[in-house]
Amino acid sequence: MKNMLKGLGAALGVALPFLAQAPADAATPAGAGAADQALVQRGAYLAQLGDCAACHTAPKGKPFAGGLPMNTPMGRIYVTNITPDAQTGIGGYTEADFARALREGVAKDGHNLYPAMPYPSYAKVNDDDVKALYAFFMHGVAPVQQANRESDIKWPLNMRWPLMFWNMAFLQKGAYRDKPGKDVAWNRGAYLVQGLGHCGSCHTPRGVAFQESALDESGSAFLSGALLDGWFASNLTGEHNAGLGRWSDEDLRTFLKSGANRHASAFGAMTSVINNSTQALSDQDIAAMSAYLKSLPPVGGNGAAAYTYDPQATKVSLDRPANDAGARVYTAYCMHCHGVDGRGFAPMLAPLAGNPNVLAKDASSLINVTLNGTGDLVINGVPSPFPMPGFAAVLDDKQIADVLSFVRAGWNNGAPAVGAAEVAKLRQSTQAGR
Ligand code: HEC
Ligand code: HEC
Ligand code: HEC
Repeated sequence: MKNMLKGLGAALGVALPFLAQAPADAATPAGAGAADQALVQRGAYLAQLGDCAACHTAPKGKPFAGGLPMNTPMGRIYVTNITPDAQTGIGGYTEADFARALREGVAKDGHNLYPAMPYPSYAKVNDDDVKALYAFFMHGVAPVQQANRESDIKWPLNMRWPLMFWNMAFLQKGAYRDKPGKDVAWNRGAYLVQGLGHCGSCHTPRGVAFQESALDESGSAFLSGALLDGWFASNLTGEHNAGLGRWSDEDLRTFLKSGANRHASAFGAMTSVINNSTQALSDQDIAAMSAYLKSLPPVGGNGAAAYTYDPQATKVSLDRPANDAGARVYTAYCMHCHGVDGRGFAPMLAPLAGNPNVLAKDASSLINVTLNGTGDLVINGVPSPFPMPGFAAVLDDKQIADVLSFVRAGWNNGAPAVGAAEVAKLRQSTQAGR
């Protein structure tokens, strides 16, 4: 009966919230309905925390209906439909099925999910939050009939049963447990960053089997920066040049809320995290994440002293750009936005002087953003007024290498030069997918 009603709800394209009630609540339907509504709403918030939409909603697609292609080392896969449609979505999932998919990476029919679904992080989500998420996906999301697409991964790599062994080796089961000796905010932050926030799925380097090499702060590689799909997700430890060591707690909260601060601004894969997820979080949760991240000890530095601003030498070469190929490109194409002083007009126009991404050893993000520009950062529904333009059509590989080498040496940044071959490689891989 309940399933039939659900089917009816699906057919009408509406959620029937009263169906979520347990029989015990039947005596007080009105009160229980309100409690369910609150649960669905909490689930909606948690879905933002988990950024489910970033993957499960394709651009211009219906919410959570899947279809987005994702590149994995083995080939391209397509994200699945998680609307409550009974045939093509997860309408047939019980709460236990849903919990198993989310935390153990196993679908209702028993097949193993590829770890492109970040279940190794979601494994930390507690039962209360799973319950609320389930209520949201069953009753707060409109069912959409849209069949899933087969992956492009060829046999034998498309076989899913070996993932069972992958899970045995790398999946750490069990929800997050508060760490004794740490305060409430730190523990909440750890729970969010390691769990639903799945920050490590981009920011932690991967091992040989594509596993995150650490899932919490007990492993030193945790959140120390990683290259994924043409973007280098920054070092989020306390390292003082490429990491967050020079950021105050307030700088970090401002970045997560608005996508920019006096040091840097969000671009590449981080844009969707800010757009769909962190900007919507409560001040308390943002503060908790920040408290946890700011507690991570420095990892991955090269022994250099903390960055200090020095514009002098760079100003001299910008006054006479003729002899310096990089300064020539910078003067012609970059200076009107990023400034002679390299300070831009933060937070609207990102500074390049002292910017942790400019100081990072891996230059992939810098090359990628210079080639392809930035996607729209949208804060409170308003797209950023000055996106960074892409220069792929205007500048050749050598010009981009020259200007980025100039930027990396400029204003006392002291970061290694960029080669034209590196630019050529990223130009090819990022343009192919467009
Ligand atoms: C980084 C991308 C990504 C994010 C973020 C993500 N998912 Fe997924 N999810 C996937 C992919 C890819 C699959 C399909 C994997 C496969 O086919 O093996 C999947 C599969 C699933 C499935 C199994 C359904 C099925 O039949 O395949 C469920 C349930 C699910 N996701 C729920 C969620 C929820 C809830 C969230 C947010 C808390 C979420 N996902 C966030 C990528 C993601
Ligand atoms: C889909 C991949 C992805 C996920 C998930 C992700 N990030 Fe990022 N993040 C990036 C990339 C790529 C960058 C580098 C570009 C930039 O600075 O915006 C970045 C940059 C950042 C920066 C700026 C660092 C700097 O030095 O400029 C912060 C802070 C940050 N991320 C925090 C987080 C937190 C907290 C989470 C989890 C809630 C998270 N990120 C999840 C990809 C990701
Ligand atoms: C029209 C103004 C404009 C011009 C011209 C411009 N940029 Fe940008 N640039 C931006 C803005 C705005 C951002 C911040 C992007 C965002 O967050 O959306 C940015 C970001 C960047 C970043 C990433 C830093 C960060 O933390 O966001 C780099 C690197 C960069 N620009 C390099 C260059 C180079 C090199 C040139 C010249 C070839 C250039 N830019 C020309 C506006 C500009």
